[in-house]
Amino acid sequence: MNGKNSHISILGIFVADAAFRASRPPRMGETLIGLGFNLGPGGKGSNQAVAAARLGASVSFISRLGDDAFARLAIDLWDNEGIQALVEHDSNSFTGAAYIYVDDQTGDNAIIVVPGAASDVSEQDVERHRNSIEGSSIFMTQLETPVSAARRGLRIAREAGVTTILNPAPAAPVDSQLLALCDYLIPNESEASLLTGMDVVSPQDAGVAATSLQERGAGTVIITLGENGAMYCDGKVQVHVPPVRAGQVIETTGAGDCFCGAFAWALDAGVEPLEATRYACAAAAISVTRPGTAPSMPTRKEIAALRSNPVSNGE
Ligand code: RIB
Repeated sequence: MNGKNSHISILGIFVADAAFRASRPPRMGETLIGLGFNLGPGGKGSNQAVAAARLGASVSFISRLGDDAFARLAIDLWDNEGIQALVEHDSNSFTGAAYIYVDDQTGDNAIIVVPGAASDVSEQDVERHRNSIEGSSIFMTQLETPVSAARRGLRIAREAGVTTILNPAPAAPVDSQLLALCDYLIPNESEASLLTGMDVVSPQDAGVAATSLQERGAGTVIITLGENGAMYCDGKVQVHVPPVRAGQVIETTGAGDCFCGAFAWALDAGVEPLEATRYACAAAAISVTRPGTAPSMPTRKEIAALRSNPVSNGE
C-alpha cells in the first residue's frame, strides 16, 4: 500500500456477456447448432471489480450504462458484490453486450464487444470522480473505454500518489506518455506483441518485450501467458511465475480480468508484487475451471485451499 486508505478505484465498462459454446466458430453465411449458451455479467473493468471485491477489497467502479434491462443486471451485480457504482445512466444510449464464442474442447474464446453507453465515458466523467480516485490506494483501468478517459484517470491517480495499474486490453497501440503513467502494466501475450511489435509466445519473449515497454516508460510489467503462467519484470528482476492447475479448463474468458482484480487486491493488502503475481495466477487458474466471467471469480478461501494443495497435471 502507499499510506492511503485501502480502496481500489476501477474505470471500465460493464456489458452483458452472451456466451455461445460450440465445436467451432460459424463460417460466414452458415448457421451452426451450438452446444450451450449463457447470458451473464461481463466487461473487463466490471469483471476486475468483481474479482477484487469478492476477495474482500473496497471497490468503486466508474462507468456509463444505458437505462435498460442490462443496466439492471449491472446494478444488481454490483449491489450483490458490494461494489460502489459511480455510474451515469444515459437513456439515449444502451448498455453494451459481448458475443463470446467458447470452443467446447479447449474452453478458449473469441469476443466481439460493443461497449454501448460506456463508449461515451469521457474525461469529464472521470473528473467528476476525481475525489474518489485521489482517495484510493489503487486505480486500475483497461482500454475498453476511450483512451482519453483512461489517460485522465491514470494522470489524476499518479498526481495524487495513487498506485496505477493499466491492463491494456483489448490490444491497442499505446503511446509512451501513457505507459509512463503506469506503475504496473499487465498485458497478455497478444497485447504485449501489439504494444512492442515483437512475437511474444514464450516466457523469454515476454522478458524481452517487458524490457522494451519499460524503456518506453512503463513501471513493473507483468505479462500473462495463459497456460504458461506469467512473466514478472520489475526492472531489477525478471521472474517466470509458473502456471497453477486447478482442474479441467471449462472457459478461459475473464481469466485476465480475474488475474488483474486478484493482483490489485493482493497488492492493496500489502503483499509484495511478485507474490501478488503468484496469488493472481492461482486465482485465474480457478476462474478457468468455471463458465462465465464475473460469476467465475474465486473467493479467498478457494484460492488459499488451492495454494496449500495444488492440483497436479491439471486433472
Ligand atoms: O475479458 C473478458 C471480457 O471481455 C468479457 O466479459 C467481455 O465482456 C469483454 O469485455
